[in-house]
Amino acid sequence: MKEIQKAFKEFTNSYYIQNEEYDINIKLKFDHSQRVAILGENIARSESGFDSNTAYIASLLHDVGRFEQYRIYKSFNDSVSDNHGELGYRTLLSEHRLLDLIPESMQELVLACVRYHNAFEVPEELSDETKRYLHLVRDADKIDIIGLFINLIVEDELTECLVHKLPITDRYTDAVAEKLINGEMIRSGELQTATDLKLMLLSWFNDFEYQKGIEILKEMKLPERLRSTLPNDNVIDEVYKSVVGRIT
Ligand SMILES: [Fe+2]
Repeated sequence: MKEIQKAFKEFTNSYYIQNEEYDINIKLKFDHSQRVAILGENIARSESGFDSNTAYIASLLHDVGRFEQYRIYKSFNDSVSDNHGELGYRTLLSEHRLLDLIPESMQELVLACVRYHNAFEVPEELSDETKRYLHLVRDADKIDIIGLFINLIVEDELTECLVHKLPITDRYTDAVAEKLINGEMIRSGELQTATDLKLMLLSWFNDFEYQKGIEILKEMKLPERLRSTLPNDNVIDEVYKSVVGRIT
């Protein structure tokens, strides 16, 4: 385990260019990866049938494509750059400093978790075991992204890059709010403002696979903390109540 942590740190260290804004974004993804690894391991230990070491490695490496994505495109927006799951899959296949440290029996599963962690839906054709780990990585990832965004909003550190250049305003799109009320998921292409993006994060509360993931969400008080960053009006009240009402 120590070896893969060290190799991942060395891999990400090679992306720093001594430019403040650029390096902050690399560090942000490095820190996110570390937290997702711990969350993934934590979920694996609470749910039955997981190897926590495999869960840790798949979670640590899930965003390995973000570093190349930022180096090439200076953006984390997949729709104007490249699908960072696919890019991560290709990166990991060619990055032997990391791949060689993953036991061979685990490699295919970890590669699939990296490749599909950001897919709108989990591909049907994957094996049941791969799907279980993929759902675990997706749960861990969502918890940290929601928490990270709330912290950045509260600390007024939300940058244009992080909201994919969407206007930072309290306005939101009616169709997005309606989808949440109906329990539907939001695609990133439907977002028109940063508040729509917050609503998309809220919709993720209804897309957790594991009970432990939901428990962590609640322990971290993420639903109410996210609500406090949203506008105060009747529509948002209804959106919030319907989403939270579906969390069991
Ligand atoms: Fe990701």
